[in-house]
Amino acid sequence: MALLDIRDLDLSIARGSELLPVVQGVSLTVEEDETLGIVGESGCGKSLTALAIMGLLEGSAVRIAGGSMHFQGRDLLALSPGERRRMMGDQMAMIFQEPMTSLNPVYRVGDQIMEAIIQHRGMSRKRARERALDLLDLVRIPDPMRRIDSFPHQMSGGQRQRVMIAMALACDPKLLIADEPTTALDVTVQKDVLELMLGLQRRTGMSIVLISHDLGVIAETCDKVAVMYRGRIVEQASISELLSNMSHPYTLGLLGSIPAPDHDVEWLDAIPGRVPTLDEAVPGCAFHPRCFAAEGSCRTVDPVAAAISPAHFVRCHFPQGSTT
Ligand SMILES: Nc1ncnc2c1ncn2[C@@H]1O[C@H](COP(=O)(O)OP(=O)(O)OP(=O)(O)O)[C@@H](O)[C@H]1O
Ligand SMILES: [Mg+2]
Repeated sequence: MALLDIRDLDLSIARGSELLPVVQGVSLTVEEDETLGIVGESGCGKSLTALAIMGLLEGSAVRIAGGSMHFQGRDLLALSPGERRRMMGDQMAMIFQEPMTSLNPVYRVGDQIMEAIIQHRGMSRKRARERALDLLDLVRIPDPMRRIDSFPHQMSGGQRQRVMIAMALACDPKLLIADEPTTALDVTVQKDVLELMLGLQRRTGMSIVLISHDLGVIAETCDKVAVMYRGRIVEQASISELLSNMSHPYTLGLLGSIPAPDHDVEWLDAIPGRVPTLDEAVPGCAFHPRCFAAEGSCRTVDPVAAAISPAHFVRCHFPQGSTT
């Protein structure tokens, strides 16, 4: 049984009396001790998918319009809000895209970590402080005894992101969802933070969903990947299968837009054009206006996901085959 099993998830956004589909037919599984990458350009539905898994869409304009989500065999959509809250932070935790908005600027970082521990583990303040010190040490914050009493603004961006990771790990989650955890950091710090997360995974055996717009980062860190375009998964495979047999023109474009000397993709430095907005209707394949391989049928018929090999799916009329 997969740790997380999502089938045909549909999300819609209420806009006036209309419901606009924003995520469509997303199916994903995450096994124990596995790292899944979700990659795609801005606005493709990565964060909304993560928020749906975490049960954090409540009170927003976004509705779950269809599909199922199971975590350790439990039907997430059947849980009460209270059960859902307990599960969040306890068994699944999330690191958000903007660390500064998730850390409260008026509280010391130690108190914020302790609060997470006390809330979910019911420890005394004294034991929670000891655990917070251990966590700060675990995420390699230098001099935890002093830093535990710092305010977020007294820390660097990389340190704040480490505090976020410490908070997420406070209750030993089975699943950690990291939404662009390093985008706000400079490149060397990015690498440190990612290595830290993977090192913690090796020690704790937790599973990770890593969301990024950078396929290079995903390829280096994940076991498998789902490529999202405009609310849909357009290609899904293990990293090794994907790198040896990249099929969707969009995936090729994502890799072509990062420096990759061993990939001879001449036709694209970046994908031309942009992701259509939610209210722009695109007939046929949603990617066809930007696609180098588009032909007649792409403009009229929306492709369905097809298996290229047992665990490699692509949603394209003209999959590209091997690039190596
Ligand atoms: N609360 C909301 N209300 C209305 N529209 C929303 C809301 N949240 C997201 N959207 C829209 O849904 C689409 C998908 O958003 P989402 O945040 O999931 O994208 P993303 O892939 O995470 O992008 P990014 O890489 O920029 O973080 C976007 O078009 C966005 O504008
Ligand atoms: Mg996002």
